[in-house]
Amino acid sequence: MPKFPIDYNDLKPLGKTRERITAIGLGTWAIRDYKSAFEAFVEAIESGINHIDTAEMYGAGEAESFVGRVVKEVGRDRVFIVTKLYPYRFRSLEETLKAARASVDRLGVRYVDVLLIHWPDQQTAIKDQVRNLEAVAEAGLSRYIGVSNFSKDELEEALTATSKHEIVVDQIKYSVLDRRSEDLIPLALERGVSLQAYSPLERGQVAHVKLLSKIGRQYGKTAVQVALNFIISRPRFVAIPKAERKSHVEEITGALGWRLKPEDIELIETKL
Ligand SMILES: NC(=O)c1ccc[n+]([C@@H]2O[C@H](COP(=O)([O-])OP(=O)(O)OC[C@H]3O[C@@H](n4cnc5c(N)ncnc54)[C@H](OP(=O)(O)O)[C@@H]3O)[C@@H](O)[C@H]2O)c1
Repeated sequence: MPKFPIDYNDLKPLGKTRERITAIGLGTWAIRDYKSAFEAFVEAIESGINHIDTAEMYGAGEAESFVGRVVKEVGRDRVFIVTKLYPYRFRSLEETLKAARASVDRLGVRYVDVLLIHWPDQQTAIKDQVRNLEAVAEAGLSRYIGVSNFSKDELEEALTATSKHEIVVDQIKYSVLDRRSEDLIPLALERGVSLQAYSPLERGQVAHVKLLSKIGRQYGKTAVQVALNFIISRPRFVAIPKAERKSHVEEITGALGWRLKPEDIELIETKL
């Protein structure tokens, strides 16, 4: 038996909201060629992917401007935009709101869908970070709020600190090769929080894992597709691989619409 019940949904709820995000979204860290990435991202949205992850940090704002161009091309209602602000922004209300406005402006939208604290700020109490985060939603700059790189205890503290808005997501590192974040699943299930797996391809490394290719052959799928399918089969988990080549995006979208058999999930759990 796999460690967790298999989630067969390709459209997963965002936190406790009625929003549905695709089990796979796209990341935007370290894009090299924005022209090629533009074509790849537009194709991804056309093929049904509905969420993009970005951050003010990526390309020092360039990634957000890029997402803005993609959104303009495909239509605002087709993209669920997640962005993140540097932790130090959350030390003061003014700085938080100023940075959130700058992100929204670079994205060329009126509001983002979810705004996250990129990682916990060590100098500020979590309750104060959360208060400033909530102010972003209060100001109408973000529809929902969330966190990133928050451990189980930090997430629990953040969830308790909210007063008007729920934390809908914790974006954390998770892949077939690094499953430490699984300890968040019980809390995510109990409190209705989505988990967004970043670096789900281990920056391309999973493509070379022989066991994944071997498992994939039975399904006519590649190692990358198996690696992503494993993640989205976990309850509450969505994955946000980054790809700027069309061929990579096509391979990624091929991870949707099917699921690994329980025995293959178990094989990955025990052999990798
Ligand atoms: N919250 C955080 O602290 C945090 C930290 C890291 C990342 N993130 C987010 O998570 C996203 C994804 O993580 P990541 O960028 O670290 O790494 P990743 O998604 O694990 O790997 C991206 C790399 O894999 C390659 N790739 C994509 N599809 C492939 C395929 N089908 N076959 C072989 N290689 C493939 C990409 O190549 P091409 O680009 O050439 O297509 C790129 O070099 C980021 O972009 C960012 O949005 C968040």
